[in-house]
Amino acid sequence: MMHLLCLILLISISIFPIQPLSTNPLPPPPSGELISKLSASLSSSPPSFCRLVIKNNPPADPKAFTANPTLLSVEGRYVEIKSGPKLQLIFKETTRDLTKNIELDDDDDIDSLSSNLLPLFSHASFKTCTLQTLDGDYAFKAASTKLKTNRPTFKSLPSASHNTKKTPLIDPKSPFLYKLGLTDSEGTPKPKSKSKLSQCTKFVEIVSQLIESQKITDQKPIEIVDVGCGKGYLTFSLHNYLTSKNIETISTGVELRESLCDSINSIVSDLVETEPQFETLTFKPGYISSYVHYSKKVDVLIALHACDTASCDAISYGLSLNSTIIVLAPCCHKEVRRQVEGFKGYEGVLGEVMGWGIMRERFSEYVTDSLRGLILEYLGYEVKIFEFIGSEHTGKNSMITAIKKSKPMSEEEREKVLKRILELAEGNGVTQFRLAELVGIELRGKKIKNARNMPN
Ligand SMILES: C[S@@+](CC[C@H](N)C(=O)[O-])C[C@H]1O[C@@H](n2cnc3c(N)ncnc32)[C@H](O)[C@@H]1O
Repeated sequence: MMHLLCLILLISISIFPIQPLSTNPLPPPPSGELISKLSASLSSSPPSFCRLVIKNNPPADPKAFTANPTLLSVEGRYVEIKSGPKLQLIFKETTRDLTKNIELDDDDDIDSLSSNLLPLFSHASFKTCTLQTLDGDYAFKAASTKLKTNRPTFKSLPSASHNTKKTPLIDPKSPFLYKLGLTDSEGTPKPKSKSKLSQCTKFVEIVSQLIESQKITDQKPIEIVDVGCGKGYLTFSLHNYLTSKNIETISTGVELRESLCDSINSIVSDLVETEPQFETLTFKPGYISSYVHYSKKVDVLIALHACDTASCDAISYGLSLNSTIIVLAPCCHKEVRRQVEGFKGYEGVLGEVMGWGIMRERFSEYVTDSLRGLILEYLGYEVKIFEFIGSEHTGKNSMITAIKKSKPMSEEEREKVLKRILELAEGNGVTQFRLAELVGIELRGKKIKNARNMPN
């Protein structure tokens, strides 16, 4: 009997050999085939690798993804730096780019390629992968079983120099900057304007990436409304950048100071003679809260440093025209601050924090912007709040970005978000909030027992 069992075991081992255990299991085709092609293109001498692009579906509901919810794409290029050749992977997320250099020194590096790339291919949001080499272009989509081969797009190798000079998002020599008084006639930023220029550049970078991620450039032209635009630095900068990328753009700045609008409209008229892209940029005087429609539609609503409740009015304007993207850098938070200052309900550990005026002031900002974020979520947007630039450029450096989700939330999910809004307001003594009023959310006021007396 024992002999018979051993014989059966031997036969089964020879038919189904035991696979060695591996931390890096062999990838399923076609990703395995693509990684082999990638590795061969990087190790040939000279390398025939030109470009790798992995695209993800933009996350409709980021909470559905456990890893890297904001990863939009990964781009790979071959670079030669001091420490040797590398495959440089740029992970493009909604609000930032992360760079990772993969060693290409020896044969073990194939393992490193697999461990870096395989999780991306098996991620729920993975869409397509394209490898371009001098020998051919190879591509596959999520769920494809075959690697598609096409004739090579690249006829010669792209530059491997790491220090390829980037074209600035805003060319300091742009005539609009001089006309607006941010640079001198030589295109040198004026000392006082450097921070404003940095803010404009960062802002253009963030908004243009959001626009790109939403593919709204297909809906020509795209309409941008900048609420509380002041002198229009950001309105001009974004309009100039988008039109330089051949994106048909209509931009409207709304500003309550009529004389300011007149002076910037006259700058537009001067510029149009030599720079026709500014023909579709207008500044309109008015209050954003006045329910006047300053534009026919809004694809991108922006409001930077619109004071106090003007940021709420700006959001409401964007919502009323179903804006795909809403971007805000809120300013002062007086409406909530008044209520937080007078609130006697902070107890325990939080009560200790709120004993200081500066803490209550900062906390008012957190409550205000969290309420705005939650209300936008409640109304079907995917919201992010982050610091968009260093505090050396501006203290008002929180940014809220909201993108209209393609799939509406279920009633149950909406109810949950509403509950969070009401609890956040109630827990901080906020019974009046402009955006809540504008969108019809009724906050409840509740007196908390055993209130701790707050110092004045
Ligand atoms: C601090 S400035 C910011 C200007 C510009 N967005 C920037 O970041 O450079 C705020 C501007 O919003 C304008 N403003 C405030 N409330 C407004 C409202 N309800 N409607 C239109 N403009 C408003 C003010 O006149 C001011 O020019």
